[in-house]
Amino acid sequence: MKIAPSLLSCDFSVMGAEIERMDKAGADWMHLDVMDGHFVPNLTFGAPVIKRVRRYTAKPFDVHLMISEPLRYIDDFAAAGADIITFHVECDSDIGATIDKIRDNGILPGLVLKPGTPAEAVFPYLDKLALVLVMTVEPGFGGQSFMADMLPKVRQIKAECARRGLTVLIEADGGIGEATIAQCAAAGVDVCVAGTAVFQADDPAQAIAQLQAY
Ligand code: DX5
Ligand code: ZN
Repeated sequence: MKIAPSLLSCDFSVMGAEIERMDKAGADWMHLDVMDGHFVPNLTFGAPVIKRVRRYTAKPFDVHLMISEPLRYIDDFAAAGADIITFHVECDSDIGATIDKIRDNGILPGLVLKPGTPAEAVFPYLDKLALVLVMTVEPGFGGQSFMADMLPKVRQIKAECARRGLTVLIEADGGIGEATIAQCAAAGVDVCVAGTAVFQADDPAQAIAQLQAY
């Protein structure tokens, strides 16, 4: 299992050092949660912050856009150094145009599903995607409880990709830790985001290694 620590749980006053700490602890990707206070009821950071912290690791930057109009900002996040950009299928931008814009910038595109959105919502775009992110909490905040009832969605998306001969990674995000990751692995999740479970661990390197073993 690949593990992407969510920087939402880091000490933002030393974000660069926190990224270095996660790099040394063995993180596979860095997960960066961008919130606009409109699509979700919380605010975090944008492209200027990501650009500043980019130099603290060579690991992939997995940028999760929880914003209403992602299309307007794709060039900014590309210039800031994103490697993967995921955005919500429930957003207000044109989905196909946003995927194309991400691809045009040489970045891997992914679509995200909120808990209330069915798997079928991403089916029309699967052949253009590198990744689908299934939210296992309502987006907006770290530290919430894992929703196991989202896992059938993972299986549905995997089955549809297999049926169509597509290779699309499945990522899960929210409430994932030692107690819940086995279920994600069993459902076929390829990449797990973990905020609280990694940042609150006494030994993040050990926590990441334990999660990667699934
Ligand atoms: C929630 C974010 C998640 C969150 C995960 O909106 O997308 O990435 O930080 O945090 P934990 O692992 O604490 O649920
Ligand atoms: Zn996220």
